Amino acid sequence: MVAVTSGSIDAAAKALRAGALVAFPTETVYGLGADATNGRAVAAIFAAKGRPRFNPLIVHVPDRERVAELGQPPPFGQRLAEALWPGPLTLVMAKRPDCGIADLTTAGLDTIAVRVPSHPVAQALLRAVGRPIAAPSANRSGHVSPTTAAHVAADLSEHVAMILDGGPSSLGLESTVVDVTGEQAVVLRLGAVAREDIARVLGHPVVVAQGDPDKPASPGMLVRHYAPATRLRLEASEAGSGEALLAFGGNVPRHAGPTINLSAAGDLTEAAANLFSALRALDRAGATAIAVMPIPEEGLGEAINDRLLRAARAA
Ligand code: TXA
Ligand code: MG
Repeated sequence: MVAVTSGSIDAAAKALRAGALVAFPTETVYGLGADATNGRAVAAIFAAKGRPRFNPLIVHVPDRERVAELGQPPPFGQRLAEALWPGPLTLVMAKRPDCGIADLTTAGLDTIAVRVPSHPVAQALLRAVGRPIAAPSANRSGHVSPTTAAHVAADLSEHVAMILDGGPSSLGLESTVVDVTGEQAVVLRLGAVAREDIARVLGHPVVVAQGDPDKPASPGMLVRHYAPATRLRLEASEAGSGEALLAFGGNVPRHAGPTINLSAAGDLTEAAANLFSALRALDRAGATAIAVMPIPEEGLGEAINDRLLRAARAA
């Protein structure tokens, strides 16, 4: 835990640019930050949290000019942005194809969740880094969200390069997540901005998606997850003719068709960083199926296998 000074902010920014994780205060809860353009750094977030699944993460930027580089909300989304940013609001919008955000950050989706926090330390850090920062709450998966630097230290101290201590989070509740990709705003997660405040800005009542966005209960209203259209064949020891091969590790079967190795070194962090772009690329290869080599069910392998299983079921 380090006190906030211009020196520690610069050191934190440097660590983030080098691909390390930095925990930092926001007005909602403490975030576990990584450079959102660096897939390996983002993979380290999932490893540190011990998350068994890859959920899309919120990308943090210091102002609305930087938001425009990531995506363009429709006019009603702009009204929410003008009224409530900086602050505890997250907008899910269509992602600009040229935004440079790692595929793992958005879990392969064409949408992106963006937030402009108001906390002065978060603001200073984001300006010093000069890159968009992906950050979920800085707790181990299943634990409560941290509202002090000490909470973060108790959960994650071995995993972070630095914990910036900005005192207790004033709101203590996560941001309200609002999907503005459709005709109307839909609240995906209730949080520190009340539903009434959103309705007041829009001038009409707003729908709240049923259930926890992380635990889909009513399909259709919830986070849509990316899945390839091509069938996946899991636990493959080789790929047939017409198939594409999604490989892992150093011992890859000979294959003449399209092949991508998630990590020749057998490194699960590297594999996680490559997963969604590899699926997209092989999905475009016109193969009859994507043969997927076995991935060890340990560390990030658990989350990789969870996503592969869902994709195999979806197609
Ligand atoms: O207050 C907060 O929002 C904190 C601070 C650190 O900013 N962050 C936070 O992040 O709570 P996290 O990862 O715990 O929650 C992100 C939420 C999840 O419910 C996720 O499903 C949703 O945002 N989300 C992210 N990207 C999305 C997308 N493209 N489409 C739909 N939902 C998305
Ligand atoms: Mg959380």
